[in-house]
Amino acid sequence: KAEAILRELEEKCGTPTAKLRQVADAMTVEMHAGLASEGGSKLKMLISYVDNLPTGDEKGLFYALDLGGTNFRVMRVQLGGKDGIMKQEFEEVSIPPHLMVGSSHELFDFIAAALAKFVDTEGEDFHLLPGRQRELGFTFSFPVRQLSLASGTLIKWTKGFLIEDAVGQDVVGELTKAMERLGLDMRVAALVNDTVGTLAGGRYNNPDVIAAVILGTGTNAAYVERAHAIPKWQGLLPKSGEMVINMEWGNFRSSHLPLTEYDQILDAESLNPGEQIFEKIISGMYLGEIVRRVLCRMAEEASFFGDTIPPKLKIPFILRTPDMSAMHHDTSPDLKVVGSKLKDILEVPNSSLKMRKIIVEICDIVATRGARLSAAGILGILKKLGRDTVKEGEKQRSVIALDGGLFEHYTKFRKCMESTLKELLGDVAEDIVVEHSNDGSGIGAALLAASHSQYLEIDN
Ligand code: BG6
Ligand code: GLC
Repeated sequence: KAEAILRELEEKCGTPTAKLRQVADAMTVEMHAGLASEGGSKLKMLISYVDNLPTGDEKGLFYALDLGGTNFRVMRVQLGGKDGIMKQEFEEVSIPPHLMVGSSHELFDFIAAALAKFVDTEGEDFHLLPGRQRELGFTFSFPVRQLSLASGTLIKWTKGFLIEDAVGQDVVGELTKAMERLGLDMRVAALVNDTVGTLAGGRYNNPDVIAAVILGTGTNAAYVERAHAIPKWQGLLPKSGEMVINMEWGNFRSSHLPLTEYDQILDAESLNPGEQIFEKIISGMYLGEIVRRVLCRMAEEASFFGDTIPPKLKIPFILRTPDMSAMHHDTSPDLKVVGSKLKDILEVPNSSLKMRKIIVEICDIVATRGARLSAAGILGILKKLGRDTVKEGEKQRSVIALDGGLFEHYTKFRKCMESTLKELLGDVAEDIVVEHSNDGSGIGAALLAASHSQYLEIDN
């Protein structure tokens, strides 16, 4: 019986190449629709106000703050113009879970306090010109309707955050007020999504970077669009002729997506039902939870764990994606990692090799679907840019900057995503490069703060 449930899962999660091409095409269609008009698509295709990416000339001391991944991070970086990054330091703080579902005031007070503490530890290697105000790039990894590069209102929360009174507020205003309450004198010079920050950081190191993808707690992508291909853009055409678009692809959905009953129930019971469907089948916050749900059904309908259902198995999100990854990568002949995870997390003391093998297979099916769909998403972007085919007489390299815990730590996921992309790209595969941009988003935000500094004119 467990075997039957497994085969059914495999069938429902199937992502043959033809299906991935349909997903990529649907992604391209939705991109066009989202660029055409506000609310024209599930894909918000948010205008970032970033119309110039880092050049390498950025100079001075800048701060960055990164909120929305697993950890909250503060950093400072001394930029030396052509000499590159002279020095950088950062500190990682985990957000207490109650603050993720509390009030706006409390969250921003916590962030500002961590920032103030960090500023206090600034050493002699960092130089702020006398009389100047500190400036900050704020990476805020949620959908924001930008009003300018340095302001924007929160559209909705995603991932594990739900703080009602912050929705519709200007997040820079909220942060600035919290800093004022603490007497911290700092100006937010840029507000960016993590994908946009990663794109900026990636471009600083490599001029061929044209898009960035986050595969972490959540998933999303940003890319460089031609400004005249954005019909909904009402402003002046930027001099560069370009505009970075934050797709918010986590909210993509299509009838071509292979969805199962587990996904449907997970969605219905989530903090944001009906939303972020692509994210819920790809990203790190959810993969382990999907596996748990499959195991629950096996326990209930096929007595997979014997006569009783392990009580721990009933607890949502108890099986985290890092644990799933550890089980999936278990190469020991008796799958002892799987055995010990079952014991430690689900309090199942004895498991047979047969059971363990089934669990590894579930992990494989769920991770493979996510990885292959993320490759299809990337193909969608390349298609939109006309970079998915070889152009006569013209060789163009496209680099995609990737970051996030899922990409960084879940090796089988990453390998599968990369090989699927090659499979989909065929002849053009050698011109498309996926590059890990480690913590690019923090640096990227600092770089954008530098290129939008209030002192820029004085300095040039
Ligand atoms: C980090 C970036 O490396 O990856 C963050 O600096 C981003 O901006 C994060 O949000 C996403 O990864 P995770 O796994 O922490 O959600
Ligand atoms: C979620 C957020 C998005 C972010 C992504 C990755 O999808 O809505 O803004 O980029 O997670 O962190």
